[in-house]
Amino acid sequence: MGFPIHRGRRLRRSEPLRQLVRETELSPSDFIYPLFVTEGRGVRRPVSSMPGIYNLSVDNAVEEARQAHSLGIPAVILFGIPDRKDAKGSSAYASDGVVQRAISEVKEAIPSLQLIADICLCEYTDHGHCGVLSGGDVHNDSTLPLLAQMAVSCAKAGVDIIAPSDMMDGRVGAIRKALDEARFELVPILSYAAKYASAFYGPFREAAQSTPKSGDRRGYQMDPANAREAIKEVLMDIDEGADMVMVKPALSYLDVIWRVKQLVNVPVAAYNVSGEYSLVKAASQNGWVDYTRIMLEILTSIKRAGADLILTYHALDAARVL
Ligand code: PBG
Repeated sequence: MGFPIHRGRRLRRSEPLRQLVRETELSPSDFIYPLFVTEGRGVRRPVSSMPGIYNLSVDNAVEEARQAHSLGIPAVILFGIPDRKDAKGSSAYASDGVVQRAISEVKEAIPSLQLIADICLCEYTDHGHCGVLSGGDVHNDSTLPLLAQMAVSCAKAGVDIIAPSDMMDGRVGAIRKALDEARFELVPILSYAAKYASAFYGPFREAAQSTPKSGDRRGYQMDPANAREAIKEVLMDIDEGADMVMVKPALSYLDVIWRVKQLVNVPVAAYNVSGEYSLVKAASQNGWVDYTRIMLEILTSIKRAGADLILTYHALDAARVL
């Protein structure tokens, strides 16, 4: 195997040759583009911590989804920003909620675009936690029926895929059962199975207005130090009926993506989260890095680690250059 019989440089001499032996190829069909949908009409409000990302009213969300679709992106994930928040997150499961309306209008406009609903209460509760509070703690079991209700209401609106991101125990099973009982047995679940309590979600919380008023999410999201535990979470979710599993965030957790991919035989998604996006945007706006090259290198690394699907705010930018 040694030099000079072998020379690594032989296969790196030209772009066509490099392309011939390239192991990982990105494609717009790998991407899922997140959309933040807000009340009103004609709204396109920039998210200051995420250059290039907007809060969109339903009409503009349809247009943004059309853009994504025309660039070859097969799916979008929808986050709702309601006008009214309360202790139980009621507008998360209202039939005329902002996300439910976005689902039905985008579906009607672009039937072949796959719509994913993020299922979680944090954008809808006045306290900003992902479940209901009881004695100052986020109460697991009384949150489950509300998540199930939200999933069913999104299915009724025509969503293609349900993606629970709350990290309550047993939510995949509860959602599966509720979907089946409502005759949505063919609606798949993409579970945020290994979701870490991460500082990389900072900009998202501005975009989705979902910062917890007190405390943090470490009581239900995973400790960044743990990887074996991710395997446990993933296997439990598959056992409860998850059709696909997600690792989130992506970049500081490439080892977790890799481990999960080696172990399971369902599609693996990775979420290239808001903080990962904004760091790159900020550095490139300062002229410190080459935006396009950094973006493609990051997305390639996530795919190389084993992600079959990548949720990313770069989706439109990346699809345009691929
Ligand atoms: C919860 C949810 C969050 C993200 C996706 N779903 C925020 C959180 O857990 O605080 C983060 C996405 C990102 O940072 O891009 N509804």
